[in-house]
Amino acid sequence: MTEPDQSALLRPHAEQAFAEELSALDRTDDRPRPPSWRLSPWAVVTYLLGGTLNDGTVITPKYVGPRRLVEVAVATLATDRALLLLGVPGTAKTWVSEHLSAAISGSSTLLVQGTAGTAEESIRYGWNYARLLAEGPTAGALVPSPVLTAMETGTIARVEELTRIPADVQDALITILSEKTLPIPELATEVQAVKGFNVIATANDRDRGVNELSSALRRRFNTVVLPLPASEEEEVGIVTRRVEQLGHSLELPPVPAAAEEIRRVVRVFRELRSGATEDGRTKLKSPSGTLSTAEAISVITSGAALAAHFGDGTLRAADVAAGILGSVLKDPVADAVVWNEYLEAVVREREGWADFYRACREVSG
Ligand SMILES: Nc1ncnc2c1ncn2[C@@H]1O[C@H](COP(=O)(O)OP(=O)(O)OP(=O)(O)O)[C@@H](O)[C@H]1O
Ligand SMILES: [Mg+2]
Repeated sequence: MTEPDQSALLRPHAEQAFAEELSALDRTDDRPRPPSWRLSPWAVVTYLLGGTLNDGTVITPKYVGPRRLVEVAVATLATDRALLLLGVPGTAKTWVSEHLSAAISGSSTLLVQGTAGTAEESIRYGWNYARLLAEGPTAGALVPSPVLTAMETGTIARVEELTRIPADVQDALITILSEKTLPIPELATEVQAVKGFNVIATANDRDRGVNELSSALRRRFNTVVLPLPASEEEEVGIVTRRVEQLGHSLELPPVPAAAEEIRRVVRVFRELRSGATEDGRTKLKSPSGTLSTAEAISVITSGAALAAHFGDGTLRAADVAAGILGSVLKDPVADAVVWNEYLEAVVREREGWADFYRACREVSG
């Protein structure tokens, strides 16, 4: 297959999108690197949190959050324990896991997507049946899983939504993580992991109870819990940066004056999420949905597309109102009551929010 022109890709991998930053880090990084690591742990943390290198290269922050958490995550990956990123939806678990593997292994693509239907082959290996029938079980007929490939190459494999995977399939990981070996009885052989191999798994807090991790498996992981953004300021910063990056890669026409609407969307999400107004004076009911930072990002991005293509090119309250409603009303009946109360008790009274109130009323029917 020929490589497509990178600028034509809808969503380049982290290692493609940030190739220049990664090579600048590689050039200037003189700290010790664990076996098979492309960068030192210090440089990996700098890649995630941003900074300025000695040669003046600016590394953009990918993750905004406590430095210590990122240090613990990176240090874990240099040990024999795997890393479990846990958190409520939209706290950047997948995002952080992609960037960690890009920085450590130079590739974020050895990925197992966990679902109720994930089979053992996606964690161990499968067979190319045509070749299996023709040749019998040979090395050439074996189809390695992303985990097996990571073992052979000393790189990071990612397992998304680990708790959605059925328990017996999860168990396949236990041997791999404790023995660092995968037996292949059909070939009377085994694959021993090369130094540098490790696993980053993500799991959603809200999925707890779907398939609880067995304690045997949990013991193989260090858990790092990714928090919601600590302050409105921080969350506005995250949304602003991501909206800008997304707008750029989707080639949306630039939409000015988004700052005001971003602040409002973030304020609304934070207030409904926490069940109280920003000043702490009014208690609120929370809707059933999660109202994550990720959803705020997509409300603003859709709003920007509306403004660019159907509006006057400036992001206005009317462009985000429908998106907010869609995020809040996950349960059409109960959430509508919560939303109407919030509109009338809080939004209506807030100074400078009259246009926003009108726009929301209009779409709320
Ligand atoms: N603290 C943060 N720093 C930087 N980006 C963030 C932060 N929190 C959320 N985001 C952004 O939110 C988006 C969604 O994140 P992601 O999909 O990784 O969430 P998740 O935790 O995997 O959610 P889910 O549980 O639904 O899978 C990403 O684009 C990411 O950039
Ligand atoms: Mg995710």
